[in-house]
Amino acid sequence: MKLTETRKKELRITVDYTNMTDKYLGDKGISHKTIEAHRKIARAAHAYLAENRGKDELYTGWTELPYNQDEIVADILETAKAVRKKFEYFVVLGIGGSALGPIMAFRALCHLHYNDLPRSKRKGPKFYVEDNVDPVRMKELLDVIDIKKTCFNVISKSGATSETMAQYLIISDLLKKAGENVKDHLIFTTDAARGNLVKISKELGGVKSYVLPDGVGGRFSELSPVGLLPAAVLGIDIKAMLKGAAAMDKFCKSPDLYKNPALMLATLQYIAMQDGKNINVIMPYSDNLQYVSDWFAQLWAESLGKNITLDGKPCHVGQTPVKALGVTDQHSQVQLYTEGPYDKVITFLSVGSYKEKTPIPRGCENIPDVSFLGGHTMEELIQAENVATAYALTKAGRLNYTVFLPEVNEYTLGQLLFLFEMQTAYTGAMFNIDTYNQPGVEAGKKATFALLGKPGYELQRRDLASTGSDAEFMI
Ligand code: PA5
Repeated sequence: MKLTETRKKELRITVDYTNMTDKYLGDKGISHKTIEAHRKIARAAHAYLAENRGKDELYTGWTELPYNQDEIVADILETAKAVRKKFEYFVVLGIGGSALGPIMAFRALCHLHYNDLPRSKRKGPKFYVEDNVDPVRMKELLDVIDIKKTCFNVISKSGATSETMAQYLIISDLLKKAGENVKDHLIFTTDAARGNLVKISKELGGVKSYVLPDGVGGRFSELSPVGLLPAAVLGIDIKAMLKGAAAMDKFCKSPDLYKNPALMLATLQYIAMQDGKNINVIMPYSDNLQYVSDWFAQLWAESLGKNITLDGKPCHVGQTPVKALGVTDQHSQVQLYTEGPYDKVITFLSVGSYKEKTPIPRGCENIPDVSFLGGHTMEELIQAENVATAYALTKAGRLNYTVFLPEVNEYTLGQLLFLFEMQTAYTGAMFNIDTYNQPGVEAGKKATFALLGKPGYELQRRDLASTGSDAEFMI
């Protein structure tokens, strides 16, 4: 993608938080006085992140990803080229932070029916991300791919995640049975030294591997090889994504609350949460951005849903992310958002120029209910519905704000990801919690180990056996 200075300016993402304030929401909105009263906490969050950027031990290595990957990017581009030449299918095996980023970028930056296009119209192999262990899904994936022509990118920082490793066992067994050299079909993305994929790679005689850096947790890893390799295989311009992230970083570094979009959004959400707004609806008006919601949901929920502060005080903080799609969910959830409890903030993702306009032809001239649509475009329609929904919510006193993308492309997606990551980091700092751990996820992982008989989990297995469904409560 050609990024001149003028083009970069045109593609700058902006944030409009008018509808979070009392300007149109009256006493349901946040006043300037309240924002000012939170300047101190915003300043402290800013200082905390400024001092602690890029520290592996604090898991803030992700802040440097836009700047420190030149060699890795060059290597990824080479590998991607070879993969495109050799394979017809590219399958990511991973879950959570090791899957949601690749899914999001695929949906955002590729044709919406990419896998249905003929090879001549696709930049890369057919693409699948297997982020569940539904046995039907695994079987039916195998019905549509030819494993002899498939490259499997196994993404797992720990190499100990049951879901991913179960998939790995199935795939490697099938490859062996098909008489293939297993390692030729694999690319690992994992921790540098720890982790089982390192051992497996050695056993197989050296699998092409990329490192998920120490200081980058799963949900902050899209701009690392976790997201960059699958994106590059798809022909996505990963350099432009990283440039977009770096451009957003400049704004998000500003100590001035009114010039720093991530800090302002964090502050407004922090204020909203103090006032019982415990739900954050993320509603892109774009099918391309649909899975930004899934990626964001994990980032926001796993990072902020915590029960203890960094100085050991009990707390129960976080905001439940809800995924919605404009306009589809206007006909499903917006009734609740407009008239239900005052417990939500709506985050709109709006697009200035869609890659297609799709004119609506004139017709049905005798039916005014229909004919008014003719002569417009579907772009105008979706944008009008976006504005109308924000207006209706504002009139009903509902907090909402808009992140505006002039277009959906690599550069704007990079900006968007970085904006949300910084917003999450600032919000976590305001709550004084560990934004980067996930003990709640670990608990479930360990209980699964116990249930399936992993050595070392015998005590928990006994505890599990003594709990569960009780006939008294079954109907
Ligand atoms: O954000 C996270 O850390 C998690 O969602 C992990 O990415 C997820 O549990 C997968 O872990 P791993 O990459 O170790 O397989």
